[in-house]
Amino acid sequence: MDLKRMRVEYDAPPLRRSELRGDPVEQFKEWLREAAEGGELEPNAMTLATVGLEGGVSARVVLLKGVERGSFVFFTNYESCKGRELAIDNRVALTFAWYRLGRQVRVRGVARKLSRGASRAYFAGRPRRSQIAAWASRQSEVIGSREELEARYKECEARFAGKEVPCPPWWGGYRVIPEEIEFWQGRRDRLHDRFVYRRGERGKWVIVRLAP
Ligand SMILES: Cc1cc2nc3c(=O)[nH]c(=O)nc-3n(C[C@H](O)[C@H](O)[C@H](O)COP(=O)(O)O)c2cc1C
Repeated sequence: MDLKRMRVEYDAPPLRRSELRGDPVEQFKEWLREAAEGGELEPNAMTLATVGLEGGVSARVVLLKGVERGSFVFFTNYESCKGRELAIDNRVALTFAWYRLGRQVRVRGVARKLSRGASRAYFAGRPRRSQIAAWASRQSEVIGSREELEARYKECEARFAGKEVPCPPWWGGYRVIPEEIEFWQGRRDRLHDRFVYRRGERGKWVIVRLAP
């Protein structure tokens, strides 16, 4: 495979300063909608980077499940690798890559746990099989085999037979409160458009253009 020949020429219309919304979260929602309408397979998939426990970095993909009160919501296991990292240092970065539109959004901010009520309400709406899996899987722990995982799933299935599956105490959501959001539009000749919103005085958003 010749990676040097794998090259896309971006040919999108410009991203203009005059067309940007004053609020970056509103701008994000517009781009998310366009990514979904543009046929992106999982437009709400985002890379979540955290500060690793021993000074390293750590990243993985999670799904954005809400944009609420100016923050980005995702759900996970609080005792997973990411959950343990966030308990020590809640600084995060989120990256969305929408290849069909040649766009990227980067968010830097801090993650805070959702209320138990909000996590339980979201969990209650998940498919039953996913709810059982949340009980069966100790995310990020070493397990002996696939059979072990499936056996744990069956145990949990039997335990909750005929009952509602409650939200496990170690499962829930986080909301990422943004401090900085960047919008990147791929353009011809690698002369891309980049605008970053930063929090200025009294929380007001300030927009600057960055070199591509
Ligand atoms: C498209 C996609 C969506 C995912 N969505 C989630 C999610 O919403 N929550 C989650 O905990 N893991 C999700 N995962 C799995 C994570 O990438 C990761 O494997 C898992 O959360 C364990 O990460 P950790 O060991 O760093 O905590 C997703 C993976 C992919 C590829």
